[in-house]
Amino acid sequence: MAKLYVNPNVKKGHINPELQGHFSEHLGRCIYEGLYVGENSDIPNVNGMRTDVVEALKEIKVPVLRWPGGCFADEYHWKDGIGPKETRKKMINTHWGGVVEDNSFGTHEFMELCRQIGCKTYVNGNVGSGTVQEMSEWVEYMTFEGVSPMADQRKANGHEEPWTVDYFGVGNENWGCGGNMRPQYYGDLYRRFQTYVRNYNGSKPIYKVACGPNADDYNWTDKVLETIFDHSAGTGLLSGLSLHYYTVPTGKWEVKGSATDFDEKLWYKTMKITLKMEELIKRHTAIMDQYDPEKKIGLIIDEWGIWTDVEPGTNPGFLYQQNTMRDALVAGINLNLFNKNCDRVKMANIAQMVNVLQSVILTDGDKMIKTPTWHAFNLFKHHQDGELVESSIETKEVGLEAENMIPDLSESVSLGKDGKLHVTITNASLVDNTDIEMILAETDVKSVKASVLTGKMNAHNTFDAPETVGSTEFTAVKAEGNKVIFTAPACSVLYLEVEI
Ligand code: AHR
Repeated sequence: MAKLYVNPNVKKGHINPELQGHFSEHLGRCIYEGLYVGENSDIPNVNGMRTDVVEALKEIKVPVLRWPGGCFADEYHWKDGIGPKETRKKMINTHWGGVVEDNSFGTHEFMELCRQIGCKTYVNGNVGSGTVQEMSEWVEYMTFEGVSPMADQRKANGHEEPWTVDYFGVGNENWGCGGNMRPQYYGDLYRRFQTYVRNYNGSKPIYKVACGPNADDYNWTDKVLETIFDHSAGTGLLSGLSLHYYTVPTGKWEVKGSATDFDEKLWYKTMKITLKMEELIKRHTAIMDQYDPEKKIGLIIDEWGIWTDVEPGTNPGFLYQQNTMRDALVAGINLNLFNKNCDRVKMANIAQMVNVLQSVILTDGDKMIKTPTWHAFNLFKHHQDGELVESSIETKEVGLEAENMIPDLSESVSLGKDGKLHVTITNASLVDNTDIEMILAETDVKSVKASVLTGKMNAHNTFDAPETVGSTEFTAVKAEGNKVIFTAPACSVLYLEVEI
């Protein structure tokens, strides 16, 4: 019997809702078709945004959305995407699939989408191929309420009031598609560009995110911070540093592996690769601690998720992949890790929201399905805005190959504003249903409710069978004094709501 120790009296940090954030890029069918179908579409929509998709996103309480990229962001010129749609520039999306980008989804549409979802806004600026003036004017256009050339243009384009930009990314992957820069050079550019990401209207300052490392590029983190971090200015120059890390099942970018057709060995290898996130958070945090021991600067994991080969027969530049119980476990493991490290990790954005990489939603014409990843997010949403409490779980090593053994279980526990404990557990073993005894320090349990998401390792939803995978009520849970006893099925994500 694995013991899960929980001490509700020891608080470890605030779980920002943004740890369950999302990312949408002008890539494949994410924006166009997936989120935005245009006002004249036969698919039910409000101001062009698909109603079915928006409703499904509201259900999982999407807290924040990043846009317009990704690599697309450093090729995006925002003025192409404002004004009458008929006159907006048409161009080739050179980075993703070579298709026509008609710019019908631009700044106004993004803000409208976030309004409908009810989420915060995270806009990513262009450092790689843009100018300081362009970035500065974009911020002015979006957020200035007074009289100015950009604010006047926004008003002329039909939006009198300024919008709120909660987060602003100063470039994306500037070590790669965002300009192939070296860290010191990017650091200097960051200092200059961020100066003009102004806080107008005296409202809450925009949270400025610098381009951080690719996975385990610790040198990038160190050199960028050395260049940017200004002890006298504190966090004035910098609010957060990004980190991008993808789970590539085979570990090889050339042949990443199928999204649905994989064996048990590859399952465990995928989990092992996913668990590297823990090491990345710890080691980047250790470098950040040298500059910022008070942890004022957030680690912003604004691209994460599983990246497989595309579905056979689809455009390789569209990154369209199916989504199985393996994705649900990858999501659960990562979301538990983000919670456990919420003292440093302040936002995380899964790549990507709809029809691209590890999506929560897939669409086909007017059809829509919720993926196993959507269902995992639906279980984790109860942690949003809670306080992480001390917990630890006993695990055993599982796997089929010596080099790919993993701990079977992961967990995180929060105390919600509702006074209840919210517990999420993943069981990545493919064979063992594991008995768990949760023991609460100095606290008795009044009642417990639970849900489980489980299935075969490659079970997934299709447009013909959209309900194959989904969470169900889990009744085999017993509360006794200060204990809760239950069995976590193999290949599952569990959620427990514990009244204390
Ligand atoms: O999410 C797909 C791509 O992955 C993004 O555009 C880029 O930032 C990353 O390399």
